[in-house]
Amino acid sequence: MIKTVEFLENGIVRLIDQRLLPTEEVVVDCKNYLELAEAIKNMTVRGAPAIGVAAAGGVALGAREITTTDIGKFKAEFEKICDVIGGTRPTAVNLFWAVERMRGAVLGATGAGVEELKGRAANEAKKILAEDLLINETLGKNGADFIGDGETVLTHCNAGALATAGHFGTALGVIKAAFGTALGVIKAAHLQGKRISVFADETRPFLQGARLTAWELKKEGIDVTLITDNMAGYCMKKGLVQKIVVGADRIARNGDAANKIGTYSLSILAKAHGIPFYVAAPISTIDYNIPNGDHIPIEERDLREVTHVGNRQLAPDGIKIFNPAFDVTPNENIAAIITERGVATAPFEQSLDKLRR
Ligand code: MRU
Repeated sequence: MIKTVEFLENGIVRLIDQRLLPTEEVVVDCKNYLELAEAIKNMTVRGAPAIGVAAAGGVALGAREITTTDIGKFKAEFEKICDVIGGTRPTAVNLFWAVERMRGAVLGATGAGVEELKGRAANEAKKILAEDLLINETLGKNGADFIGDGETVLTHCNAGALATAGHFGTALGVIKAAFGTALGVIKAAHLQGKRISVFADETRPFLQGARLTAWELKKEGIDVTLITDNMAGYCMKKGLVQKIVVGADRIARNGDAANKIGTYSLSILAKAHGIPFYVAAPISTIDYNIPNGDHIPIEERDLREVTHVGNRQLAPDGIKIFNPAFDVTPNENIAAIITERGVATAPFEQSLDKLRR
């Protein structure tokens, strides 16, 4: 069985190394919180919910590493660990959501000793991981009815089990499939017995679609066709796509949704061709603190991601490069936002607020 994120008994956070997929299925053990922080930065683990779960594990691991028995010093060091983990990537709000939950579980406890606080950190991280698996299964089922028998769904980047705490290749307990968010919807429709085909955008420059989504869907036995990003419009024009389902890294209060770069253009193509465009994400991806997508920080990544594929250089030396990793799809391009608590439709300000607790 492969798990995206796993917490070992000794506090180690085990990750499947997503940089090596699909050719190598290798796990990486993060033995201290700094290794975990680096794993988030370098995309060993990626995808908003997976980053959140890994971050929670990293904070628990960091708490375990603290040697002082003085409660004041422990809390100060714990805060520092939360800041380091929280500083790894800027766009996916699940990272900050998870770190805040860890902070609350540990620093919110009054009268507890250092060992008890370390235990609380470990338990909270395990809770976040377990919840994530159930959330994705529920979210998938909530969205499955949007996909009809015989339809072809286009998706972008990877919003599958690899982007969450997902498990692969098991029928243990409640986990009957490796769900994920956008792919969770597709997989749930597939499990309902519908014949579903998927177009996976390769997702330049980091190729999460080609490397991860294609790998994951193939493993799940779902029909998948890989296309390059610039083929999406052609496929829509030819009537080859009936639905679009993508994930999200941060959704503003009004429904504007940040997702992998290229999602915004897809939403415009979808509108032009009258194709429903769905966003699937857990409630932890909704940032109720921001009114609209203009407030979402967009990560800019290493320019080498654009100039090179692997070790092969594609562009001349010295050329100017721009590498924003995300864009924002305006709410008017979104037919529905599918969450584990239900489905939100326009006006999103009200419908998303109803899903808030
Ligand atoms: O840079 P990444 O790979 O962490 O970005 C992930 C995405 O943007 C995915 O498309 C996804 O929809 C959000 S996570 C389910």
